[in-house]
Amino acid sequence: MWRERSHVQVDPDTSAMIHSVGLVLALTLTIAGAWPDWPEESHYSGVSYGPTPFWCKPYGLDCLKGRSYADNSRGQNITADLSTVKSVQRINHDYCNLTNFGGPGSQVPCVEYWQADGKVFIAADNFCCQSYGSPGIFPLKVPQTNWMTQQMKLEPQLGYYKGEFYVGKVYNYTMSLTPGPPPEFKGKQPPPSKVGKIHFWYYASYPDKKPVAQGEGCVIDVSQSSQCTYDAAVYLFTEYRMFSAVSFNNYTEFELPPQCSRERKTDCYNRGGGPPPMF
Ligand SMILES: *[C@@H]1O[C@H](CO)[C@@H](O)[C@H](O)[C@H]1NC(C)=O
Ligand SMILES: *[C@@H]1O[C@H](CO)[C@@H](O)[C@H](O)[C@H]1NC(C)=O
Ligand SMILES: *[C@@H]1O[C@H](CO)[C@@H](O)[C@H](O)[C@H]1NC(C)=O
Ligand SMILES: *[C@@H]1O[C@H](CO)[C@@H](O)[C@H](O)[C@H]1NC(C)=O
Repeated sequence: MWRERSHVQVDPDTSAMIHSVGLVLALTLTIAGAWPDWPEESHYSGVSYGPTPFWCKPYGLDCLKGRSYADNSRGQNITADLSTVKSVQRINHDYCNLTNFGGPGSQVPCVEYWQADGKVFIAADNFCCQSYGSPGIFPLKVPQTNWMTQQMKLEPQLGYYKGEFYVGKVYNYTMSLTPGPPPEFKGKQPPPSKVGKIHFWYYASYPDKKPVAQGEGCVIDVSQSSQCTYDAAVYLFTEYRMFSAVSFNNYTEFELPPQCSRERKTDCYNRGGGPPPMF
């Protein structure tokens, strides 16, 4: 459970005591400057395009057989809770295809549980598999609040984005890399990825720098996404409907369900190299 709060909290008693115009101005600037960093704890929702999960057994993308985001062009609603304080994230998907992993169906709701130790589980009705963080499979950590400014490059020119929830100018953060485990990863290395370069992008609204959309694939622009077939990185993206700062009371929403216990979980490891060290 979560309750909304402003991105930067100002104690009302404290603000009442501030008499200096200069101080008030400084505080206002601090609040305005919080974005594009994400809040320490947040609840967000949006619509995601592309296959979920975006990899399959035993390696990489073979089972997707040239699927691109257009395969799921209606998109699917997602909601998510993220705490960088506890390093946990939960993403609820409306529409997952788990048949390749022995799961309950090809169009079923599923929940991703990201744990502080870098393990990630995918759970559905009476089913759970582990996708990251087993011995020999590198861990996947939750995104840090400043991942877009620390790990991506801000393009010098504003972009223009026309999506379901936002139309207008955007700050354009980009990054491209070859997938693989983090350099410091000490486990057995997965076989070299066939995926090639993955391009990442993150758009923040202009001028207030709030989350608009985020995506990745073998190209940046959705208009070229039909190139992302077979061994090339699948084109995936999420448009944010809302994104707000919250405080979690007891973190019960992040607890793994019983089907994810060590005895019951199965394996859906992303052995294809998977996402990069950034997350
Ligand atoms: C956790 O907090 C939520 C919201 O305040 C509450 O409804 C729920 O009962 C709490 N759960 C536990 C186990 O304390
Ligand atoms: C689900 O995945 C399986 C195995 O990869 C594939 O054969 C099937 O076409 C997919 N179904 C849908 C609805 O995407
Ligand atoms: C997502 O949820 C909204 C609001 O509940 C609904 O109107 C819309 O049809 C849903 N979209 C999809 C793709 O399921
Ligand atoms: C963001 O920058 C990349 C790289 O220059 C470009 O391909 C992409 O079209 C830009 N996005 C927008 C929305 O302008």
